[in-house]
Amino acid sequence: MPQDANVLGTLFGGQMVSWMDIAAAKAVHRFLKGTPADAALTRAIDAIEFKETVHVGNWVNFEAEIISTGKSSINIQIDAYKETKNVERLLACTARFTFVSVKKLQNGSYEKIAHEKKH
Ligand SMILES: CC(C)(COP(=O)(O)OP(=O)(O)OC[C@H]1O[C@@H](n2cnc3c(N)ncnc32)[C@H](O)[C@@H]1OP(=O)(O)O)[C@@H](O)C(=O)NCCC(=O)NCCS
Repeated sequence: MPQDANVLGTLFGGQMVSWMDIAAAKAVHRFLKGTPADAALTRAIDAIEFKETVHVGNWVNFEAEIISTGKSSINIQIDAYKETKNVERLLACTARFTFVSVKKLQNGSYEKIAHEKKH
């Protein structure tokens, strides 16, 4: 949408990262079902690469894959593909997200908790 574009008329990188963060959060939410964790927080974003520009009017589709887990951490690969009238699927952006499973404390803050789940 136009409000997602930068002054060049292409997708603002921060908006792409925001969408990727949501895609990662969704994958993590599914992974944590049935565990003691209340939620998960984004701890790190690594190896982000913007490979292709995305223009206003293009679609962006996201693929999330959990690649490894630790005690409280969950590492997710996110690939963002652009889709246009003429191009079915082109890798536009890629990044690796680390989420940490957390428990909500009575004072409203969060602390890390082991998710007790293997990938
Ligand atoms: C998430 C949070 C509760 C983690 O608590 P913490 O006591 O700092 O714990 P750490 O980050 O040291 O360690 C947690 C896990 O993350 C891993 N980790 C820490 N830094 C990392 C990094 N830069 N890259 C990858 N993994 C990392 C640790 O190895 C550990 O993994 P493990 O438990 O599987 O062995 C705390 O850091 C926090 O609240 N951060 C802010 C989160 C936030 O506001 N995110 C943005 C909005 S969602």
